[in-house]
Amino acid sequence: MLEAQEYSHLQTKKLSLLAIRRLLRLILRIAIFSTLLLLGTTRTQNNDTSTNTSMPDKRSLTEEDNGGEYWVAETYNFPAFDNNTAKNVSTQLGQTAFLHCIVENLGDKTVSWIRRKDFHVLTVGTDKYISDDRFQTVRTGNDNDWVLQIKFTQLKDQGIYECQVSTDPKISVFVNLSVLVAEATISGGPKIIVEKGSSIELTCVISNSSDPPKFVFWYHNNRMINYDSTRGDISVEKAAAKTVISKLYIRDIGEAESGNYTCGPSNAGPTSVSVVISNGENPAAMQHDGNSAPLNGVQTRASLLWNLLLSLSLINYVTR
Ligand SMILES: *[C@@H]1O[C@H](CO)[C@@H](O)[C@H](O)[C@H]1NC(C)=O
Ligand SMILES: *[C@@H]1O[C@H](CO)[C@@H](O)[C@H](O)[C@H]1NC(C)=O
Ligand SMILES: *[C@@H]1O[C@H](CO)[C@@H](O)[C@H](O)[C@H]1NC(C)=O
Ligand SMILES: *[C@@H]1O[C@H](CO)[C@@H](O)[C@H](O)[C@H]1NC(C)=O
Ligand SMILES: *[C@@H]1O[C@H](CO)[C@@H](O)[C@H](O)[C@H]1NC(C)=O
Ligand SMILES: *[C@@H]1O[C@H](CO)[C@@H](O)[C@H](O)[C@H]1NC(C)=O
Ligand SMILES: *[C@@H]1O[C@H](CO)[C@@H](O)[C@H](O)[C@H]1NC(C)=O
Repeated sequence: MLEAQEYSHLQTKKLSLLAIRRLLRLILRIAIFSTLLLLGTTRTQNNDTSTNTSMPDKRSLTEEDNGGEYWVAETYNFPAFDNNTAKNVSTQLGQTAFLHCIVENLGDKTVSWIRRKDFHVLTVGTDKYISDDRFQTVRTGNDNDWVLQIKFTQLKDQGIYECQVSTDPKISVFVNLSVLVAEATISGGPKIIVEKGSSIELTCVISNSSDPPKFVFWYHNNRMINYDSTRGDISVEKAAAKTVISKLYIRDIGEAESGNYTCGPSNAGPTSVSVVISNGENPAAMQHDGNSAPLNGVQTRASLLWNLLLSLSLINYVTR
């Protein structure tokens, strides 16, 4: 009985030893396996980050493997630019220019603006590093947008501006600023010969006008005729990108309407043409009006009405 008992005791001892050995082997296997897994995942994900300079995939945040957590902590916050900001910015001379730089995941890094022409650091964060008060980094609307604002733009402000993030290595985007000078010209000038009694249309082309002019005034000699014109019709319309056209239409032109006509837009220097009335001696330069019906006084004298229309068309243009 005793012997039998001892024997079975020995057997269980042997069995438990076996179990412990198996357990140890299993633990070792798990350790090796997870080490391999860890190495594997970090390697592929490091490759991922080196080939993808943009934001890391958000999906990795929820990954539950051992390697994931370490990788997420190190690279999720790597800053990246939003590529959709304008790289070519144009502004009208004297107007305020806004250069956008949107940085995601900025973290503890800073955004600087550098003028490439002379490598002058303009701003670091929102701190100014230039004595010229026209430069400033403003933070409005989008929290990730570091907007370089340049007030009262001058021609010398044209060129490349660098938005730089203080990562290691540094990352940058470049914005090219153009300052446009609007220019007005009247086609057919400087001298336009027109037959007495016919009609004439003067076309003033305002080019390089990225913003529409607030108004376009027309002058006959030194008198402004927008408001008191008895015979003219004036229109203002957008012709192409950065181009606005204003037309002055005069019917049944008489001696009194000869002289100097000037187009004076709000955003460009004035331009003039000289209108000479002929008595039919120079037909080549004439502009005939097929409609020889008598003047409609109500229509042509309604200067208030047309002025209203001009204002409306400008407002319409501006809000488009
Ligand atoms: C990195 O991963 C890309 C695919 O994501 C693969 O084409 C490339 O061969 C890998 N490079 C290395 C060095 O493993
Ligand atoms: C930004 O542009 C770079 C290259 O031009 C591209 O690799 C990256 O994916 C873009 N980033 C975003 C957020 O689209
Ligand atoms: C780079 O990351 C972006 C953002 O997570 C992702 O949309 C894009 O597919 C990735 N590109 C590559 C080549 O992995
Ligand atoms: C910016 O302008 C340059 C030339 O002035 C042109 O080559 C480039 O395509 C423009 N870029 C964009 C995004 O319009
Ligand atoms: C910046 O824009 C101007 C005007 O569009 C162009 O003449 C110039 O070549 C551009 N500069 C660069 C570096 O793209
Ligand atoms: C428009 O501006 C460009 C430079 O910005 C200049 O080369 C061109 O002559 C200008 N055109 C007119 C009609 O003023
Ligand atoms: C028209 O008048 C303006 C100023 O009144 C003058 O500067 C310009 O030279 C004149 N132009 C012509 C063609 O007579």
